[in-house]
Amino acid sequence: MADIAILEVNGKRLEFPVIKGAENELAIDIKTLRAASGGVVTIDPGYKNTGSCTSAITFLNGEEGILRYRGYSIEELADKADFLEVAYLLIFGELPTAAQLAKFDADIKAEAHVDEDVKKILDGFPKTAHPMGVLSSLTSALIAFNPDSVNVNSEEDMYNAIVKIMGKFPVLTAWAHRKKMGLPLDYGDDSLGYVENFMKMMFNKPNKEYKANSVINNSIDKLLILHADHEQNCSTSTVRIVGSSHAGLYASISAGISALWGPLHGGANQAVIEMLEDIKADGGDTKKYMAKAKDKQDPFRLMGFGHRVYKNFDPRAKIIKVAADDVLGALGVEDPILEIAKGLEQEALSDSYFVDRKLYPNVDFYSGIIYRALGIPTEMFTPMFALGRLPGWIAQWREMRLQKEPIGRPRQIYTGENLRSFKDVSKR
Ligand code: CMC
Repeated sequence: MADIAILEVNGKRLEFPVIKGAENELAIDIKTLRAASGGVVTIDPGYKNTGSCTSAITFLNGEEGILRYRGYSIEELADKADFLEVAYLLIFGELPTAAQLAKFDADIKAEAHVDEDVKKILDGFPKTAHPMGVLSSLTSALIAFNPDSVNVNSEEDMYNAIVKIMGKFPVLTAWAHRKKMGLPLDYGDDSLGYVENFMKMMFNKPNKEYKANSVINNSIDKLLILHADHEQNCSTSTVRIVGSSHAGLYASISAGISALWGPLHGGANQAVIEMLEDIKADGGDTKKYMAKAKDKQDPFRLMGFGHRVYKNFDPRAKIIKVAADDVLGALGVEDPILEIAKGLEQEALSDSYFVDRKLYPNVDFYSGIIYRALGIPTEMFTPMFALGRLPGWIAQWREMRLQKEPIGRPRQIYTGENLRSFKDVSKR
C-alpha cells in the first residue's frame, strides 16, 4: 500500500502521509488538511474512523478478537499476572521487577487513606445515590485535598499523583458501597494485597471477623485485569481530552468515571443483569426479547451485545464466560439467570440480525453474573469496572502528558441559523 494518500478538495490535489502502526495498522495523517485546503475539515460523528492519538499501551484487533497490554496477550496476563503487576505494566510500559513491584506497592499503601473530611462530603449524599455518581464526585473532591497533584511538571510529580490515586481510589469505591449499606467507614489494612484489602474494605462487618475467600479474591483480581485498559474507548478518550487541558489527573479520572457510567459503556454490566432479571420475571421467554432487540421501533437493545471495535468474539467475554462457570461451581451458586444468558447467546449467535451485524457478547455480558455470585451488589458492578480501568486511565493520561499532546478541540460543521436581528420580546 502506498505511503501517501491523495485527496482532491476545492480543486486542489493534496497529499497526506500514511502512517503505519507496530501491527501494520494504517492511518492517513491529516494534520495539515485544514491549512492546506483552505479551511476544510473532516466529519466523523462518534469518531468511528478517527484515530485521536498514537499510543504504545494497548493493541486491539476487533476483527480477530485480539487484546494485548504492552504486547502481552490478555489471556496470558489474566492467567499469570496479578492486578498490581498489570497496573504497573500498563502505566510504566514493562512488567515490574520484584523490587519495582515492592516499591510501587509500598508507595501506594503509604497513600491509601483519605482525609477524614471527605467523609463529610459522603455524608451529604442520600443512601439512594448511585455509587458511580458518588465515586465521580469524591474523586473530583480529592483535588481539593491534594491541590499539589494538579500541576505535574516532572515524572516525579506524575508518579506522586499516580500512587495517590491508586491508593485512595479503592477506599472511595468501598466507601461508596458502605455508605449505601449503612456500614461504618474504615481505611483498610496495609498488611494485605491490593485486591484483598479492597475486598475487606467492602465486606468487613463491625461485629464479625472478616475471613478472606481466595476463590472470590482471585476472580476479582482476574476481572480487574480484564477491565484494566481498552485503548481509546469513551471513558479513556474522555480522560485524555480532559487531561489535555492540563486539568490534572483526578479531574480527568472523575470525568472518565462519568463517561463509564452510561449503559452503552461500563454501565452495561448493571444493565445486563437488570435485563436478565426482567426476562426471568417475564417468564424467561428469550425469543420475545430477541424480537424486541431486532425491532427498530423498539428502543430495547440486547445489553452486553455488540461492540464498536470487536466484530468477532470479545476476547474478554470468552475468558469471563469460562470463569463464570468455574466461579459459580466453586462457590456452589446456582443462578437461573446464567441459563437465560446462555440461551440468549445461543439464539443471537445463530440469528441473522446479530450475525450480519457481527454482534457478539461483550465483556459486560457475563461479568455481572460473576460479580453477583461474588456478592457484589448490582449497583456496584460499574464501580468495579472503574476500579479495574483506573490503571488504564492513568497510563493513557500519563502517555498523553509525556507525548505533550495538544489540547483536544474538535471542529464542527455549523448547521444553525444565519445572521439575524434581535427582536424585542413584545414582537416575538
Ligand atoms: N442490540 C440490538 N441491536 C444492536 C445492538 C444490540 N446490543 N448493538 C448494535 N445493534 C445494531 C444497531 O441497531 C445497528 O443496526 P442497523 O445497522 O440496522 O442500524 C448496528 O447493530 C450497529 O450498531 P451501532 O449502534 O451503529 O454500533 P456502535 O458501534 O455505534 O455501538 C455499542 C456499539 C456497544 C454502543 C452497541 O453495540 C450497544 O449499544 N450495545 C449494547 C450496550 C453494551 O453492551 N455496551 C457495552 C459495550 S462493551 C464494554 C464497554 O464499552 O464498556
